[in-house]
Amino acid sequence: MIVDKHGSPLSSVDNLKPDTRHGMILYVEDVSVSFDGFKALNDLNLYIGDGELRCLIGANGAGKTTLMDVITGKTRPDKGKVSFGQQIDLLELDESEIARAGIGRKFQKPTVFEALSVFENIELSLSGDKGIWSSLFHKLSGEQQDKIDEVLQTIGLTAEQHYPAGRLSHGQKQWLEIGMLLAAEPRLLLVDEPVAGMTAQETERTAELLTSLAGKHSVVVVEHDMAFVRSIARKVTVLHQGTVLAEGSMDEIQENKDVREVYLGEEEA
Ligand SMILES: Nc1ncnc2c1ncn2[C@@H]1O[C@H](COP(=O)(O)OP(=O)(O)OP(=O)(O)O)[C@@H](O)[C@H]1O
Ligand SMILES: [Mg+2]
Repeated sequence: MIVDKHGSPLSSVDNLKPDTRHGMILYVEDVSVSFDGFKALNDLNLYIGDGELRCLIGANGAGKTTLMDVITGKTRPDKGKVSFGQQIDLLELDESEIARAGIGRKFQKPTVFEALSVFENIELSLSGDKGIWSSLFHKLSGEQQDKIDEVLQTIGLTAEQHYPAGRLSHGQKQWLEIGMLLAAEPRLLLVDEPVAGMTAQETERTAELLTSLAGKHSVVVVEHDMAFVRSIARKVTVLHQGTVLAEGSMDEIQENKDVREVYLGEEEA
């Protein structure tokens, strides 16, 4: 067994970088998931480009969250292939290995440490962190301090860095959680319904934030708020009954006959 300098086992995943030479960070191919015979995902194919910001839409139950569960190792598909870059087979890794390989996930409900400051919350999430003990009792390096400052600036909470996280608004907590993900330096970020419950102003700020992440990170955003999707979307994928119904720009999606029938049509009705 290979161990690191702290004596912890060093899994090979810690040294793996996704191979994106073909321009793709994520490959999902022919993936099916069933729950008691019901197909939540049905021969799904999805490719996410390196540095891309992709929006994923679809009616309730279309399979969006299940897809994120498969990518992050929470749910195992019945069949198919899921790889991070060309070579890292995600179906062979467990949830924590997938996170360490560079895939961060933001759940809908913020899960920040309310009693700790905004700064400390981010500190705890720094990449290469060896746990709460070393984070709270060892002095930060200049590099770590710079990283936290950079994250605070990205999420717009520099002025609030010494507040206990419990005092933040709902929207600010969501940004803090995105910041905690960023501190771990993920290559791919999965964000499920980020603007649910936000004010209009917070929603707008979140659009700017997610847009600013693209390029440095690849981001997949699931959201029902169509005005929000339109404001950030480049390429949109529409899921329906566990499979991809359409893919394209927001305008293409809205013109698509199948989409109008099964999805946007429902909203108008
Ligand atoms: N653990 C589970 N056991 C049984 N059925 C499940 C499970 N998880 C999801 N499902 C079912 O799979 C289908 C897809 O669910 P999923 O949560 O992926 O949809 P979604 O697109 O995220 O919907 P929403 O927009 O409402 O969040 C639904 O019919 C759901 O009831
Ligand atoms: Mg969902």
